[in-house]
Amino acid sequence: MRKPFVAGNWKMNGSSASIKTLVGGILDGMGRVKNAEVVVCPSFVYLSEVAQLLAGSAVEFGSQDVAKEESGAYTGEVAVSMLKDMACKYAIIGHSERRAYYGDTDEIVAEKFIAAQKGGLTPILCVGELLEEREAGQTEAVVERQLQAVVGRAGIRALESAVIAYEPVWAIGTGKTASPEQAQAVHAFIRQWMSKEDSAVAEKVQILYGGSVKAANANELFSQTDIDGGLIGGASLSAEEFISICEAAG
Ligand code: PGA
Repeated sequence: MRKPFVAGNWKMNGSSASIKTLVGGILDGMGRVKNAEVVVCPSFVYLSEVAQLLAGSAVEFGSQDVAKEESGAYTGEVAVSMLKDMACKYAIIGHSERRAYYGDTDEIVAEKFIAAQKGGLTPILCVGELLEEREAGQTEAVVERQLQAVVGRAGIRALESAVIAYEPVWAIGTGKTASPEQAQAVHAFIRQWMSKEDSAVAEKVQILYGGSVKAANANELFSQTDIDGGLIGGASLSAEEFISICEAAG
């Protein structure tokens, strides 16, 4: 049985004051969450503050990206070792916003994935198609290409200590959620694709859905066989919404 998993991707939002309130609200609501692993991913600059606020709680935290290099002259980048130093456990890798705006190609995503794992972080690997790709019937081909880029370099067993997030790009921040059936179809495809290489890995890996998840649609999405939780953007900025989503996950 896969453990339900919900991660909040705060993106480039928040201030020291608002994060304190948000984390306080999440911690207050954790009593409502039975089983789900709950993770928040703040901006790099607030990681140490969030670490302190979460100390001793069941809530884990992660980064929104990592550098593929270990250390050195890479102005503006954040190394995996620095994140580990902050007691960070997870790293979102290959988010569609990084792929679209910051040049994260499949190859770079694979390198970041490998760097994160090598340094002891658990990657939350994001995959998903653009609207025009879905309309052209290429959803499975795109997701397969994105997964293969990582598996081709890291091997299928590497997914065993990773989380996958399927996020159709057309559903991110748009208020347009994939229907539970649309999401389940792609999640099932991902699991079948993995099982062709290793059925034990396919059974084990948590696959999250992301894209306009909110309290009102979380139950229906999470009740699908192959949807193990969510990667939540906008709705994770409200403690009440986020906790309700975590509650729906289990
Ligand atoms: P959203 O973002 O929930 O605001 O659609 C999801 C994500 O980008 O991870």
